[in-house]
Amino acid sequence: MIINIIFSSLTGNTKQVAYEILKSLPENTAIYDLKELAQMPEGDVFVLGYWVDRAKPNQEMYQFMETLKGKKVLTFGTLGAYPDSEHAKETKENTHRLLEKNNQVLGHFLCQGKIDPKLTEMFKKNAGGHAMTPERLKRHEDAAKHPNEEDFINARKFIETLLNHL
Ligand SMILES: Cc1cc2nc3c(=O)[nH]c(=O)nc-3n(C[C@H](O)[C@H](O)[C@H](O)COP(=O)(O)O)c2cc1C
Repeated sequence: MIINIIFSSLTGNTKQVAYEILKSLPENTAIYDLKELAQMPEGDVFVLGYWVDRAKPNQEMYQFMETLKGKKVLTFGTLGAYPDSEHAKETKENTHRLLEKNNQVLGHFLCQGKIDPKLTEMFKKNAGGHAMTPERLKRHEDAAKHPNEEDFINARKFIETLLNHL
């Protein structure tokens, strides 16, 4: 069984989770940064990592997912929202819908990831139609502590459990 991890990461959170997942996969597992991927790698299992943008995988990963056919797929992602929020649930559903047409989708993992401080500042200035409410500020402060060791352990366990059932 050949496993490929392919991730897309703007500020490094998703990349960190990707390399943590790699630690618990077989030695011949390949890992690719999507922006450096020249062609579709050979393989049966694809572990795809993305950062969340408007309850979907980020655009580059979304477009890559649209091209994937006939694979076993697991996804992981990082987001500013809480992983047990409606927003996270919607993200997983959107991701699932996108992939299930042409692939066997095994599961989805999400954890929080620190939000680019530029975005937090933008919210504070009330730009882009988003006000910085106390609730949002708390979420940004909580996200700033992630991904952490517990997230890494959970991500690895999640992937291991699913792959053990193959
Ligand atoms: C432009 C932009 C848009 C974002 N949109 C969302 C969003 O819609 N929902 C969310 O939960 N987080 C959102 N985030 C937060 C990121 O998904 C989160 O910080 C993620 O961990 C970034 O991953 P990366 O470090 O791998 O790029 C956004 C971040 C940026 C920079």
